[in-house]
Amino acid sequence: MTLGELHDAARAALDPVHYDYVAGGAGEERALAANGRAFDRYALLPRVLRGAARRDTAVDLPGARRAAPVMVAPTAFHRLLHPDGERATARAAAAEGAVLVTGVAATTAREAAPDPAVWFLLYPHPRREVTEALVRRAEEAGCSALVVTADSPRFGRRTRDLRNGFDDLPPGCAAENMRDLPGAPPGALTDIPMHPAASWRDFAETVGMTSLPVWIKGVLHPADARLAVEHGAAGVIVSNHGGRQCDTAAASVDCLPAVVDAVAGAVPVVLDGGVRRGGDVAVALALGAAAVGVGRPVLWGLAAKGAAGVREVLRTLLDEYDHTLALCGGRRNADLSADMVVRGDAAW
Ligand code: FNR
Repeated sequence: MTLGELHDAARAALDPVHYDYVAGGAGEERALAANGRAFDRYALLPRVLRGAARRDTAVDLPGARRAAPVMVAPTAFHRLLHPDGERATARAAAAEGAVLVTGVAATTAREAAPDPAVWFLLYPHPRREVTEALVRRAEEAGCSALVVTADSPRFGRRTRDLRNGFDDLPPGCAAENMRDLPGAPPGALTDIPMHPAASWRDFAETVGMTSLPVWIKGVLHPADARLAVEHGAAGVIVSNHGGRQCDTAAASVDCLPAVVDAVAGAVPVVLDGGVRRGGDVAVALALGAAAVGVGRPVLWGLAAKGAAGVREVLRTLLDEYDHTLALCGGRRNADLSADMVVRGDAAW
């Protein structure tokens, strides 16, 4: 199946309310649409006669050595989409060498899927002891990095969910990594509290709680990328949250070059939002990303076919990327460079 066919199969299989929860964005879904449109404006200038018969596309990141350049972005509530939930996603990601970012919004406890290439996502929490408990939980479960989502001082205004009245999880489906922590029991979407007053001090405090690398997710402005480095981030994830938070946010990929410039090689940069083909992976890597994250396509694979569907999505993107790299005369990801990308309304 192509990624488009997996999406169609997922749509047919899912409760329309759950489909909307995944597919939708905030407000008028402008930022969501911008992510897809932005990639359509980039095109590659392949280099020729560079002898690229053998290729090595692995990346070394803080928290993931020799990983695939495509990772599974953190997405919530996988058991809403398939009974095997995060277990299936974890199996598929491990089989393809992709990092899986799981975390506070997982419907499977982190301990159920031990694999070192699993990173744990948390939101800044208003109570320090909750953050500390989550950090320990991730460490004890063997996670190799943490990711702090910084773009959510409050929950995005998701029009489809509001219209559908979707504000709770079905019975048997809960935010399992929040269980037994100080605060509310898991269950409702709102059990994952946002921290409206979160600051760089909170981020630095989290960095100081652990020896694990701590990534920051949801950075678009280059000044924030510099602040992230100053406050101890091990890596920066450029993301507009798949268009689910600020509806007037710019497309992630359009923000990538300035962020790459701002961090000036101090830490790696990962891009997510709108990556749907191997060519998109190549554009992001050429613009300076070390890897990309993929959100919705993984969930469509999961809903359509469980672990096999997630593998299909990751394999398709990795195969297409390797093919594109070969056609650009690249042997390694680093053989793609910004001079090999053109941007303009006429790109496609
Ligand atoms: C997300 N995303 C997300 N991000 C995050 O930091 N914490 C979270 O709990 C979630 N949850 C979540 C649920 C669902 C259903 C989706 C679709 C997305 C955002 C995610 O990590 C990523 O930024 C985007 O999904 C990337 O865009 P694409 O690949 O979906 O276009």
